[in-house]
Amino acid sequence: MRTILIGLGTIGQSYCQLLENRKEDLLTNYGIDSKIVAVADSKGVAIDEKGINISDILSVKKNNKSVSELSIGDKSKTSIDLIEEIDAELLVDATPTNIQDGEPSASLLESAMKTKKNIITANKGPLALAFSSIVEKADYNNVILKYSATVGGGTPVLEFGRKCLEADKILEMHAILNGTTNYILTEMDDRGLSFQDALKEAQELGYAETDPTLDVDGFDAAAKLVIMGNLLLGKELVLNDLKIDGIRDITQKDITKAKDNGNTIKLIASVNNMAKVEPVVIPKDDPMSVAGALCSVKFVSEFAGEEIIIGKGAGGMETASAMIRDLVEIKQNMRV
Ligand code: HSE
Repeated sequence: MRTILIGLGTIGQSYCQLLENRKEDLLTNYGIDSKIVAVADSKGVAIDEKGINISDILSVKKNNKSVSELSIGDKSKTSIDLIEEIDAELLVDATPTNIQDGEPSASLLESAMKTKKNIITANKGPLALAFSSIVEKADYNNVILKYSATVGGGTPVLEFGRKCLEADKILEMHAILNGTTNYILTEMDDRGLSFQDALKEAQELGYAETDPTLDVDGFDAAAKLVIMGNLLLGKELVLNDLKIDGIRDITQKDITKAKDNGNTIKLIASVNNMAKVEPVVIPKDDPMSVAGALCSVKFVSEFAGEEIIIGKGAGGMETASAMIRDLVEIKQNMRV
């Protein structure tokens, strides 16, 4: 599958790594021969219509250099040029999330739709700001748009709701959706770490957003909740509709007070008749009370009742595994 990959941070590099690791099985089991014909990072581009060697991409990034160092293709091209001018079937968007205007992702999606490229995006920004119009535009342009990686890291949260609970009616969802804040709260509780030290560790482990205030102030969890609310509850939510409160003001004193009563503090995102993200004191033995960068999502549905799905909510390879899941689904749904 001829692919244009934009974004080579933790997620983009992990996607490349996983394509390499699973090369044989993707080909044998799904008939996917993924060829990266153009790639862009924040500093430049590389283009090779015959396919760029993935190990070359990974090695240049390992040395903290731009793919433009690979010296292939016209260096003056922008990411948008790549999408508009290069013959490809798929755009993989691994750019950092921006919840102000969704850029650069919003324009990349727009160009891909215009030029009839299917899309895998790990970027929550555009969907959190304008979910229904983006999905509508993809349908109108006959383009497959997949965004499993936007919620739950590697955990198939959207798929569980969409496929496994398809015949039921989901009434509400309550979730721990942000790995970084869950890691911070867990480490403040278990090891008595300071907020700043725990955040630093979460960044080193590759959990945090490029701009970690998105995690800490609850916007990342809120963006994910918007996507879940639209897809799984049919609510036309946008980020501005939510009441959002992060964990910046949680102190060691708050954590200790909760702990003394057998409780813990978690950043909970909920959607029922209203949608909100806020720190909540919950019993430590509540099944939703997961540790570290795990996420947990409780679905309350009309007939099946309560079901909880738990898994790794952040991390490069975890998120890349969700993107490969999307790749397989796109291959299975492509009109040949
Ligand atoms: N920064 C996000 C988190 C990454 O911590 O959950 C996964 O979306």
